[in-house]
Amino acid sequence: MDKDIYILGIETSCDETAASVIKNGHEIISNIVASQIQSQQRFGGVVPEIASRHHVEQITLVIEEALSAAKLGPSDLDAVAVTEGPGLVGALLIGINAAKAFAFANELPIIGVHHIAGHIYANQLMQPMEFPLLALIVSGGHTELVLMEKHGSFKLIGETRDDAAGEAYDKVARVLGLPYPGGPAIDKLALESDEAIEFPRAWLEVDSYDFSFSGLKSAVINYKHNLEQKGGLIVPRHVAAGFQQSVVEVLTAKTLRAAKEFNVKQVIAAGGVAANKGLRASLDAAFEKEGIPFYVPPISLCTDNAAMIGAAGTAMFIDGKRGNMEMNGRPGMQLVSWSE
Ligand code: KG4
Ligand code: ZN
Repeated sequence: MDKDIYILGIETSCDETAASVIKNGHEIISNIVASQIQSQQRFGGVVPEIASRHHVEQITLVIEEALSAAKLGPSDLDAVAVTEGPGLVGALLIGINAAKAFAFANELPIIGVHHIAGHIYANQLMQPMEFPLLALIVSGGHTELVLMEKHGSFKLIGETRDDAAGEAYDKVARVLGLPYPGGPAIDKLALESDEAIEFPRAWLEVDSYDFSFSGLKSAVINYKHNLEQKGGLIVPRHVAAGFQQSVVEVLTAKTLRAAKEFNVKQVIAAGGVAANKGLRASLDAAFEKEGIPFYVPPISLCTDNAAMIGAAGTAMFIDGKRGNMEMNGRPGMQLVSWSE
């Protein structure tokens, strides 16, 4: 690379308002995240209108802070990358409009990034990607196995048929009376537990790389109801441990089988649920045993952030991808390859 590339990343697809400056696609110069988790906790989940209002209040401040922490001005930047979808449409639009205004005012190109491409490219901030690469994406809205033959090429080999892993965590946490978001709370309880309730594993067809978590969620609800009907009470940590074991075992086994079948050089995990300590330990152990390099970003880069959007945006920028001022929020955007 002869000239350094500086990209401003912006992410507002759900409940984090985030901006970041990334150098050459892999170096974090600044990374600012304003979380709304506290105010969403009162409602037990994300309320779209409240999310949008928070984004409006925060977005300008967060962008200014990302630039001042980077000690850079708009003229030092090469482009603005922003999450185009999927996500809450009102939330996406706040980030997109801010990106458009910033790009227009400073005569910079704008690049629309798929949120999941962002989660995958969070790994590029830690170590270079090696292809073929298998990515396990586990977030609040997605559970997918994606095969990458090169930068910008995504082949979906498996996905959830019902709930996403994070969604299952959040719903089961509700059943257990734990606060939103449920993932970290269940993870903590599960690790403290010396006992685990046995719940089913959704393997689906023998050769399938798809996932299913709604049956497991129902099994947890039924277990609680049955026990309560008999006058008993659940022990939340035992339930948390059993639920987590079921999720982790299936995610690990399917990821491992896919990595071997496609003979990949690197396996990465991404998305909010990749922050799960039980899952990280299980994947680490499984891939270490097989001798396949496995990486997962630090927890702050697993949950939503703008550094990952800057990283993916830089890869798109290098491949000549540019958006325009017609860009709109795309709540149901599919992850398609930008490079075939
Ligand atoms: O990637 P993310 O921040 O937002 C989406 O793109 O959806 O993922 C949020 C999800 C939530 O469902 C949250 O409960 C889950 O990630 N999560 C976890 C953990 N930390 C966050 N799930 C399990 N264990 C964790 N430690
Ligand atoms: Zn996410």
